[in-house]
Amino acid sequence: MEGAGQRGRFIAIEGIDGAGKGVQSRALVDWLRRLPLEVLHTREPGGAPGAEEIRQLLVTGAAARWDSMTELLLVYAARRNHLTQTIWPALAQGQWVVSDRFADSSRAFQGVAGGLGLAVVEQMHALVVGDFAPDLTIVLDLDPAVALARTERRGGAEDRFEKKGLSYQTRVREGFRELALRSPQTHLLIDAAQSMEQVTSALLEAVAERLQLQQERA
Ligand SMILES: Nc1ncnc2c1ncn2[C@@H]1O[C@H](COP(=O)(O)OP(=O)(O)OP(=O)(O)O)[C@@H](O)[C@H]1O
Ligand SMILES: [Mg+2]
Repeated sequence: MEGAGQRGRFIAIEGIDGAGKGVQSRALVDWLRRLPLEVLHTREPGGAPGAEEIRQLLVTGAAARWDSMTELLLVYAARRNHLTQTIWPALAQGQWVVSDRFADSSRAFQGVAGGLGLAVVEQMHALVVGDFAPDLTIVLDLDPAVALARTERRGGAEDRFEKKGLSYQTRVREGFRELALRSPQTHLLIDAAQSMEQVTSALLEAVAERLQLQQERA
């Protein structure tokens, strides 16, 4: 089978809060494992013990607790830890890696919505990450009002970015859309307003085609 036994690929799932990244990244991981591939499922901010500690600083507390530049510094400290402790070792062992959020989140949140600009994020990225990039970035595109209704049902304390409000989330969404549209060879833009099952099948079909994996026959 194409894909199995080769070097691992790195897939990032992106989108605003409540777009369905958790649900859809689990579905993608389950599907890849059935192919079968060895898959590591991880997330940002976090994905390694130190990075998970930094996550708590970022996603809890008052919205004004950190300005955009401080967020960027914390996010990239966590990302460096995630790469060195988790992602790079897994890829080196031939595993596939699926991450719920990666660098496009910094571009969309701190760069576009937070006002730092993409050039500042790219400078930080070059310094901390270098040339490394996902083989594929999947952007789940959803109206922030719909996403908010989904996350309100869920609740929880990790709501610092939701507290920045609908206009902030709208700018994040636009940031993600522009990143996907300007790099169609590395990105997939998926309509996340459909039912979970419909989003999953659109996503799996697109991933299978893009990465030339054989679709499981029902
Ligand atoms: N297509 C869908 N239709 C309706 N509800 C959905 C859909 N996808 C996900 N949900 C629900 O919306 C909520 C948010 O989904 P999920 O946690 O996967 O989003 P997320 O992008 O990971 O959010 P966050 O960034 O806040 O972690 C969950 O309660 C989930 O069950
Ligand atoms: Mg999530």
